[in-house]
Formats: sequence, structure tokens, C-alpha cells
Amino acid sequence: MSGQRAVLVHPSADALARASAARLLLALADAQALRRPVHLAIAGGSVGTQVLAEVATSPLLENLDLTGLHVWWVDERFVPCGDPDRNEGQASEALLGGLDIPAANVHRMPSSDGADGAGDPHAAAADYATELAAFAPSGTEAVRAPEFDVVLLGMGPDGHIASLFPGHGTVTIDDRTVIGVPNSPKPPARRISLTLPVLTQARQVWVVAAGAAKADAVARALHGADPDEIPAAAAQGRDLTLWLLDAEAAGR
Ligand code: 6PG
Repeated sequence: MSGQRAVLVHPSADALARASAARLLLALADAQALRRPVHLAIAGGSVGTQVLAEVATSPLLENLDLTGLHVWWVDERFVPCGDPDRNEGQASEALLGGLDIPAANVHRMPSSDGADGAGDPHAAAADYATELAAFAPSGTEAVRAPEFDVVLLGMGPDGHIASLFPGHGTVTIDDRTVIGVPNSPKPPARRISLTLPVLTQARQVWVVAAGAAKADAVARALHGADPDEIPAAAAQGRDLTLWLLDAEAAGR
């Protein structure tokens, strides 16, 4: 059963990033009061990266025990290690490079030149699925992955989330936690993505979007569009789904 949904509108993209960073740090600290470790999944993209940059300088960081935090990616661009297009590189620059999170807790998706997957996004996806499965709560058979405390998603103007794109049929995949994407319409073409069963078993799923270009997709997602047309329509957390928008993205 899915939990509550709220739409929160901020006056500007900067205010959205600052507020989302504060909200994220408090949500993770709240989660740490209840269980260890806590699991966060992050996306790439400009808004998500801006939120991470705000986290890096927030005084609220002191509420969090970074040794009890695991960081995962909802998707990755399947390019060589060190390529500036890598989502993990952007996150490291914005946040992870400056924080004392144990290296073993930072679960980067494979790169196209890594030993894992050996240049094949489908094999790399299978490797990441194995890593996720090692953190599945005991007793769960259906979705072998951690129950993320927070999944922080960006959304493209076409309504894609993670690397689940409109018209690709990938929103109905329910037999894998991770897929290789060979044909992303947003460059680079080759990617790795979590699937909806693992994203939606998260306690909280947040979609962060800014700018007028996102307004149409936001409106369609919130009015129950077909997820194969607007994948963000399927963004849903078990306890809470938050749409964190700036005024432009909320304009429709
Ligand atoms: C990626 C992302 C992607 C992103 C959205 C929003 O690899 O590009 O993970 O899903 O979050 O496209 O990106 P913007 O915030 O830059 O519009």
C-alpha cells in the first residue's frame, strides 16, 4: 500500500535546493533514530546535484552519523570511469568527496571500462543487482534490494525518472532490480537504471524538479498519466511521496 503524497512549492530553484537539502538531512537523521544502517539513493541531473551541494555545506550535517549511511545511485551513465558525464562524479564533486562516509558504504554503479560488466550495460546491471541483493532485508524474496529510506529523483522534461524513459516499456519490468539501457534519448545513450519495484519499495520517494520546462510533465504525472508515457507518474514511496518543486515547475 502506498503512503501519503504531498506537493511542496518553493519560490525559486535555489530555495528548492536549500530546503530539499535540509529536509533530506533531517529525514535521514530521523531514520537513524529508528534503524541502522539507513540507505539513500540519489540521481544525477542538475537539480539533484544542486541539492547535494547544499547538503555538503549544511549545518544540519552534524545530526547525521555518516558511518551509518549507505549511498546508492538510481541510475548511471555507462561511460568510462572519470568521464565528467558520470552521475557519481558529479555527486562526488558536489558532496561525497567532502564527507567522511566509509568507502564501503558508497555503492557506485559500474563504469563502461570497469571489470564489472566488461563494457556491457546489461552485465553491469546484473552486477549492481547482486550488490543491492546483499543489503535486502532478511525474509524478503520479492525485491532483493535495500528498502531505501529516501530515494531522491530528478525528472526530465519528458517525465523520465532514473533512466526509465517514456515509451520504452521499462516501467513494467518487475523481474529485475536493475536494467541496462542501451538507447537513452538523453545522452549518453548507454545507461544503467534501477527499476520501479526497487524504487517504490522505498519508504520515501522524492521527485525534485525546477524550471518551466518541467511544468507540463509535473502536471501530467500528478494527474495520473500513464507511466509508460510519463514514468514520473509511477514515483511512489511506501510511507511518503514528495514532489519538491520550484514555482516554475509547479506552474501548470
Ligand atoms: C541523468 C539523471 C536523470 C535526471 C533528470 C533531471 O542521468 O540524467 O539521473 O534522471 O535526474 O534528467 O535532470 P535535470 O535536473 O538536469 O533536468
